[in-house]
Amino acid sequence: MMPAVWKAHYSTGAATPRERRSEVQSGPAVPVYPHLRRLLFRLDPETSHELGMGALRAAQRVPGALSALARLNRLAPTTAEPLRQTLFGREFPNPVGLAAGFDKNAVAVPAMATLGFGFIEVGTVTPRPQPGNPRPRLFRHSGEESLQNALGFNNGGMEALGQGLADLYPFSLPLGINVGKNKATSPKAALADYEVLIRGLHPLCDYVVVNLSSPNTPGLRDLQNEEFLRAVLAVAAEVTAKPVLVKIAPDLEPADAVTLSRVAVDAGAAGIVATNTSVDYSLVRQPKDFGGISGRAIREKSFRIFAAVARELFGRAVLVSVGGIDSGAEAYRRIRAGASLVQLYTALVYHGPSLPRRINEELLELMARDGVKRIDEAVGADL
Ligand SMILES: Cc1cc2nc3c(=O)[nH]c(=O)nc-3n(C[C@H](O)[C@H](O)[C@H](O)COP(=O)(O)O)c2cc1C
Repeated sequence: MMPAVWKAHYSTGAATPRERRSEVQSGPAVPVYPHLRRLLFRLDPETSHELGMGALRAAQRVPGALSALARLNRLAPTTAEPLRQTLFGREFPNPVGLAAGFDKNAVAVPAMATLGFGFIEVGTVTPRPQPGNPRPRLFRHSGEESLQNALGFNNGGMEALGQGLADLYPFSLPLGINVGKNKATSPKAALADYEVLIRGLHPLCDYVVVNLSSPNTPGLRDLQNEEFLRAVLAVAAEVTAKPVLVKIAPDLEPADAVTLSRVAVDAGAAGIVATNTSVDYSLVRQPKDFGGISGRAIREKSFRIFAAVARELFGRAVLVSVGGIDSGAEAYRRIRAGASLVQLYTALVYHGPSLPRRINEELLELMARDGVKRIDEAVGADL
């Protein structure tokens, strides 16, 4: 549950004197994360993640900790004003979001929000809790600033996630819930899983993402077909008026990605999230032969798919680009290619919690260089 003191601090639109002071403050004078990273990288990657999540959850219980983190990591509203957009009827303070999978159970949303993100996506959540695949199932490719994961939707299920979010929603940042079927659910019953998830969770978020693109649930990517897309979006339209987006894989042929995305939008999808992790194991030097690769190694592949989809659908749907984004320049490239929003996961592991702020500062610099007054003027500028 979000401490009241933090909620009050975070939800005011106007800059407080403290926030105005933070306009000239840009994180700690001595970067702490490189040292912390050296320690964390000595541990198994999943254990490191659990430690990080544990620290963020602990911060939620310490009075004043979240406002201190927010002062360090968030740009003041006046500085960030050019980054603000209204999408889906909600205000996004900046276009840099937390990608799905980092906070699968939505247990650290208030803490994640202090890291300077403009929106948060939780999940993937499945109808029933499930343990995921056996460990080890998360690997680093440090030289390539990449990860490979075969977690398999380990999560506490929709009931637990819903209980947590009931205390939190509506939240001070736009909140998405990413949903997926249980591993044990047969392809025939998959539609019912998505229906139950959307029906149960749509009141607790600003948008829903239908995930058909994780490589770690057998058969899931087979649901990236026109028939299933039409069916799941028809069901979604019956049960919610909230925006429903579809997340696609980077391993589709670009032409197929475009066709599927068009079918999704024609069937009512409000947006496309491109992309999930890749099963192209030639992208890293020492791959495992299972799981999905994320981070710098998938940057170009992910960009190509996104750009192809954007050329077809720009202006008809909200496009979200994700995959290998680790700088303002890369975020700007995606935005100019048609992304209203970007997301990241892996770069946070390699660059630390100051990254969202840095990306936003760099975006502001690039916009000033190009004479772009508001971020939405840059969206699709290269199309
Ligand atoms: C450890 C890990 C777990 C992930 N879990 C999910 C998930 O549950 N659902 C999902 O849609 N994407 C998941 N992703 C994919 C990310 O949301 C993102 O699409 C992908 O990693 C590419 O972005 P990145 O290069 O910034 O990491 C996961 C990624 C990683 C690294």
